[in-house]
Amino acid sequence: MNFQDQIKQGIPATLPAVKPYPADANRAPKRKDILSKAEKQLAVRNALRYFPKAWHAELALEFARELNDFGRIYMYRFKPDYAIKARPISDYPANCQQAAAIMLMIDNNLDPAVAQHPEELITYGGNGAVFQNWAQYRLTMKYLSEMLDDQTLHMYSGHPMGLFPSSVEAPRVVVTNGMMIPNYSKPDDWERFNALGVTQYGQMTAGSFMYIGPQGIVHGTTITVMNAFRKVLQKGDTPHGKIFLTAGLGGMSGAQPKAGNIANCITVCAEVNPKAATKRHQQGWVDELIDNIDALIARVKVAQAKAEVVSIAYIGNVVDVWEAFDAEDIFVHLGSDQTSLHNPWSGGYYPVGVPYDEANRLIREEPELFRAKVQATLQRHAAIVNKHTAKGTYFFDYGNAFLLEASRAGGDVMAQNGIDFKYPSYVQDILGPMCFDYGFGPFRWVCASGKPEDLDKTDAIAAEVLKRLMLEAPEEIQQQMQDNITWILDAKQNKLVVGSQARILYADAEGRAEIAAAFNAAIARGEIGPVVLGRDHHDVSGTDSPFRETSNIYDGSRFTADMAIHNVIGDSFRGATWVSIHNGGGVGWGEVMNGGFGMLLDGSAEAERRLKSMLFFDVNNGIARRSWARNNEADFAIKREMARTPKLQVTLANRVDDDLLEQLPF
Ligand SMILES: NC(=O)c1ccc[n+]([C@@H]2O[C@H](COP(=O)([O-])OP(=O)(O)OC[C@H]3O[C@@H](n4cnc5c(N)ncnc54)[C@H](O)[C@@H]3O)[C@@H](O)[C@H]2O)c1
Repeated sequence: MNFQDQIKQGIPATLPAVKPYPADANRAPKRKDILSKAEKQLAVRNALRYFPKAWHAELALEFARELNDFGRIYMYRFKPDYAIKARPISDYPANCQQAAAIMLMIDNNLDPAVAQHPEELITYGGNGAVFQNWAQYRLTMKYLSEMLDDQTLHMYSGHPMGLFPSSVEAPRVVVTNGMMIPNYSKPDDWERFNALGVTQYGQMTAGSFMYIGPQGIVHGTTITVMNAFRKVLQKGDTPHGKIFLTAGLGGMSGAQPKAGNIANCITVCAEVNPKAATKRHQQGWVDELIDNIDALIARVKVAQAKAEVVSIAYIGNVVDVWEAFDAEDIFVHLGSDQTSLHNPWSGGYYPVGVPYDEANRLIREEPELFRAKVQATLQRHAAIVNKHTAKGTYFFDYGNAFLLEASRAGGDVMAQNGIDFKYPSYVQDILGPMCFDYGFGPFRWVCASGKPEDLDKTDAIAAEVLKRLMLEAPEEIQQQMQDNITWILDAKQNKLVVGSQARILYADAEGRAEIAAAFNAAIARGEIGPVVLGRDHHDVSGTDSPFRETSNIYDGSRFTADMAIHNVIGDSFRGATWVSIHNGGGVGWGEVMNGGFGMLLDGSAEAERRLKSMLFFDVNNGIARRSWARNNEADFAIKREMARTPKLQVTLANRVDDDLLEQLPF
């Protein structure tokens, strides 16, 4: 049966044979065994409702085994036989082009070249799921192949509840992932309810079908490193020969050396896992590998003397590097850390002075001792960072919970007021005020034809639009505009495409709409095929996350999630092709609400109307909220937008004098 017929079939008519697990697949970690016997029976009962009764006896046993062996029921035997990857949009069997675009994006997220654990339907982050099981994938693709222009598919955490009549103006798909009653939103609740098969962790772009591989991270990291240097360097000085010291060469952190090279500095990135470091070196993401601290010191001194642009991976613990650089008086301009401290006790952060294999043994066999060693290392880590910052190093938290865990471990990282940390997060100091508050965020697109030449043409169109807009742009955003023009001009040579023909480009509301309109016009002229627009959830308006995306909101509202909810509802009736809202993503279940959209451009007048309306709201919703929180950059941006857009009226915040508050009888 060809791939179109397999899609149209959905759940197959005859029970497929059991499949061997692919030898080269990267298997998802075994999940916690958390369900009681009665709950395990419920999980199997839940799984069997996708299949006819005649198969139940055989499948019940198999699913029970999956649950026992892996902690989840993935329904491995129902994985389709065809190669899953983003195919040209015209290859998909569909009555409606928007549905075909969504199929393409789903398949991209499950492509083994793109996805982290494709057999378990996990795209990234260890648990970022597209679906909970293969039955959901099959049913969803079938529904999409049958969908008409006036139907909407409602998806509950990967489960396609069904196709409902709607209208041509409505989104074709509405996705929710991990929506919980708030009191049931702790990490173990995810383990329990995901094992039952009733919810999933969609991360950000995994469960919303908008993942485009590592280039998204490279762009964001580059912007962060470049702007961090701007904060510390004198005007006219450049990052050449200046050191950015950090740690981690894993999934996201591996982008740091590449970003450092694009930002023109010396990157020293420590990584305790030799395999991770070697992999990044082989992929060309880091220039040099050094496993000896004396050799590292000697190499760095040469790089400084020659003002080199180079990235060096040090195989070892980052604390050793900080301490050695202090002893040698090597000045570090920028410091950060991207170890996985959101997961400190099971391998996210390794203690100093313990060989890597021995540390892994401790995790399994002596978890309490491991924990104590991690805490002692965090104290030492904080102390040595403090020594460097006293000499002038600019240190920032990279959203990995370094400061949070260091404080919990008793490290000296609290500010004098006892509430804040000594150091800012990358959103508080860099991405928030320099990008998000002005509306700049990770806009992206995918050329649905699958043709690399279409991507080249869209790159050129986007560069032209940005250059034109820059001529009129106010002084405040000139730097961002220039950075984004540089990024798009170099994008092809940075060779970042994995999977679909996709591009990320930070842009503000005006830039996003103008670029999208120019794409739509090019499609109408037949110069390129259809284009899918989207963005990362890590953006201006899509995400309420008090320690990350909204960490630079200081009016107390960073613990609310109204913005993300308004965003997804607002986008849905302004023309999005699909919308999604997730609990969790990046920082964990219960810690964040994040949403996104996808929109197909087909060259039509309707597409032009929709893109203008939706992209406008998608960005300005967040700017309005950031301005109401008294963020000056957002205040500037929303006033500029109101001057341009007569129908926009946003409530503006009056400022209060500090003196007045000081006099109050509290
Ligand atoms: N890159 C971004 O844009 C971004 C944004 C926000 C948050 N983050 C956070 O950054 C963290 C890293 O993400 P990831 O996907 O790369 O995780 P990952 O687990 O794949 O990589 C982390 C790496 O750090 C290494 N490591 C741990 N302890 C170390 C130590 N003491 N010294 C040297 N190396 C050590 C590990 O071996 C691992 O390879 C996460 O907490 C993530 O949420 C990243």
